[in-house]
Amino acid sequence: MAKKELLYEGKAKSVYGTDNPDELIAVFRDDITAFNGEKKDQFSGKGVYNATVSAFFFSMLEEKGIKTHFIGMIDERTMLVSKLKMIPLEVIGRNRAAGSLVKKFPFENGQVLNPPLVVTDYKNDERGDPPICDDIIYALGLLTPEELKEVREMALKINKILFEFFDKLGLVFVDFKIEFGRLGDEIVLGDEISMDSMRLWDKETGESFDKDVYRFGKGDVMSAYGRVVEKIEEWKRQNI
Ligand code: ATP
Ligand code: TYD
Repeated sequence: MAKKELLYEGKAKSVYGTDNPDELIAVFRDDITAFNGEKKDQFSGKGVYNATVSAFFFSMLEEKGIKTHFIGMIDERTMLVSKLKMIPLEVIGRNRAAGSLVKKFPFENGQVLNPPLVVTDYKNDERGDPPICDDIIYALGLLTPEELKEVREMALKINKILFEFFDKLGLVFVDFKIEFGRLGDEIVLGDEISMDSMRLWDKETGESFDKDVYRFGKGDVMSAYGRVVEKIEEWKRQNI
């Protein structure tokens, strides 16, 4: 499948049209950003790590009955996906308190959240991705109450699958952000599931293996991401 026109250049991916109007090509670039684009860098191979991990999780979720946009890999950083009409929400799941939750509310960093939380931000960089509540989601016509319920249920199911998987790798799946879109009448998981959009802590030491390594200069982000990829490869060798 050949890349056609560049449709959108985001902070970490470039999205291209294809010969098929229902399919897009997403190229995972080596760019990394934090704090809404204020901190920016490039690390050679970072896009490949995120594409590899995203493809692995999309396939795993499909096997478990979650509809995703993933069609297949074209090369190690290039993904063929179904074109979705994206819903401008960042759906955030949390198993432990961290990041903005601890900044805004009196939770202890690392506090267990049981049941897990699912909250939403309005995806709009100019407005600073503000938190959005259910009534505003309905008033803006982003989702109906039934659809929001479905999105929450999908997010919780995805959370359970990923939490149990990372637990086997010795990692705590602290929190994550996912995005959904419409494909005909269906709501489908889109975008990516990678170390850029989740927090992962070592179960024993609490060491971070995610974008916080970059955000807060906690060490070498490429070795952290590479370690997650290695752990997944190890798991595959033992389980497939
Ligand atoms: P952020 O980093 O805040 O998620 P961004 O827009 O800079 O925002 P990128 O990942 O660089 O993020 O860009 C990818 C863009 O493609 C996102 O806007 C995402 O919503 C969109 N997208 C992802 N999957 C699909 C899809 N299947 N169909 C259409 N658009 C998609
Ligand atoms: P959150 O704690 O809300 O924000 P921050 O990372 O700025 O402290 O983030 C919760 C999780 O969602 C975390 O794993 C990062 C991810 N996330 C994104 O990938 N993109 C986003 O725009 C936001 C707000 C969060």
